[in-house]
Amino acid sequence: MGRPRQIKPLPSGSNRRSFLKRAIPATMAATAAPLLLTTGVSAIAQPNPSVSQHGVASGDPLSDRVILWTRITPATARSVVTVRYVVATDAALSNIVARGNTKTNTHRDLTVKVDAAGLQPQTTYYYQFSAEGQDSPIGRTRTLPLGDVDSLRMAVVSCSNFAYGYFNVYRRIAERADIDMVVHLGDYIYEYGSGQYGSTRPCEPASEIITLTDYRTRHAQYKRDADSQAMLRQHPLVAIWDDHETANNAWVDGAENHQGGTEGSWPTRVAAALQAYYEWMPVRIVDAAKPQHNYRSYAFGNLVDLILLEERLGGRAAQLGSNIGSAAGYFIQSGAYNDPARQLLGAKEEAWLFDKLRTSQARWKLIGQGVMFAQVKVQGAPNSAGGGVFFNSDAWDGYQPARNRVYDVLKGGAGQTAVDNVVILTGDIHSSWAADLSQDPNNPDPSSGGYNPATGEGSHAVEFVGTSVSSPGVDDPAAAAGTIAALTPANPHLKYINLNKRGYMLIDADANRCVCEWWHVDTVARISSNEAFAVAFEVRAGSNHLVASVQTTPRTDAPLLAP
Ligand SMILES: [Fe+2]
Repeated sequence: MGRPRQIKPLPSGSNRRSFLKRAIPATMAATAAPLLLTTGVSAIAQPNPSVSQHGVASGDPLSDRVILWTRITPATARSVVTVRYVVATDAALSNIVARGNTKTNTHRDLTVKVDAAGLQPQTTYYYQFSAEGQDSPIGRTRTLPLGDVDSLRMAVVSCSNFAYGYFNVYRRIAERADIDMVVHLGDYIYEYGSGQYGSTRPCEPASEIITLTDYRTRHAQYKRDADSQAMLRQHPLVAIWDDHETANNAWVDGAENHQGGTEGSWPTRVAAALQAYYEWMPVRIVDAAKPQHNYRSYAFGNLVDLILLEERLGGRAAQLGSNIGSAAGYFIQSGAYNDPARQLLGAKEEAWLFDKLRTSQARWKLIGQGVMFAQVKVQGAPNSAGGGVFFNSDAWDGYQPARNRVYDVLKGGAGQTAVDNVVILTGDIHSSWAADLSQDPNNPDPSSGGYNPATGEGSHAVEFVGTSVSSPGVDDPAAAAGTIAALTPANPHLKYINLNKRGYMLIDADANRCVCEWWHVDTVARISSNEAFAVAFEVRAGSNHLVASVQTTPRTDAPLLAP
């Protein structure tokens, strides 16, 4: 999804109908786009004849290997190109520990993906590709640790819309030498055509992307962005897709932004989107026979299991609309919303997740996923009084029985022990949130399944939601403040909301606590180097609820950035 709504306060004395009628349905790109037509120095690499004009990247690190990626652009057309690569322990590439040759061809759009193995754990490496007599820029990456691990620091991003603005966020992350990786939670590309969702930069191709050639062309454009190249060159990426890597509000058999009558079959479009995704992203395919199933996990020794979920193409049932006659799509948890057969993950992935959570020996279980897990209501009520009114049927709010099954795992019972220290990391909604996770946040009695907002009692896990790299939120400060004022009384479990800033999350975990810092940039309308620390919250081991925190201390022993 990705178009946050602006919700006006409920005037005292209004009934539900008048509130729903007064709510503004959406802050649309069409109204915000003209504000972003300011000039700026282009971050698009100038026409570049180099064979590595799409940069280099690494991703999906394990303790002994990492994916190294580039794309070869020969000076004259070739169907097959031989590529050499080296991996070294130093930025000057003098101590080479691995080298090899590979071939790429036009069947994979001349992209190159090497799974460089035989590496040491918790080690920073530098790498370079060579082809056609030219060397690529030098990249830097890092393997995962094994055993006892003191800390994890990583940046978390989502919703990088090239058309809507400049990737200043990526540049700020590129400058941080002391993070272990970057996690991208989806909407890495957007499928719209020029001017359809952002007018700061034109899209390639100019039309909405539908075919394999379209998706390849769009990925190539994003990979030529200088700020994107800077980030991907310095840090390993762990990426999952959300909807816009295929089309808006995707589910198993379709998407809001897919019209079968004019855009062909959905399976054909998904196959094209995923082929281009796997070609152009530094990700390791989990199951080549079922490329839509990219859920997977990464172990940071005994400190963190990072669990990545797929929430669009593998098992998601279609989103439902309003069941209370709301033009804005508001709904209550009744009727089809109560159908336990409506999956968000699908039965197979759900079983995998539950097994991962129950068997993990790591201190922290970080779940990276696309859509908001915490309840977000426009009108609050305890479950015993119906639970209130919700507004985002594309998020977990639209799949409450499936969400309840996750809570059943967290709470334990029926012979299962409870699962502590779960932290959900979320993107999708172009805004920053911190949430205690309660199934009944408007019930103030934890002994009956409710939640105490003063103490956090009744919370079973926490959620950190990161804002977008560039996609719009509720960007007008007054409108954002009004929306927050409207949401706050109905959502006592939401400890922080910012709707009008772009940025990223910095996660810092050790054995005692997991901290999330929100960092915001000043603009995406032009290139800018300004960023500001906004706020930090943390969850302490065993507590399963949030408390205010402070900015963490950068590591002093960070390996050199790549030259
Ligand atoms: Fe998005």
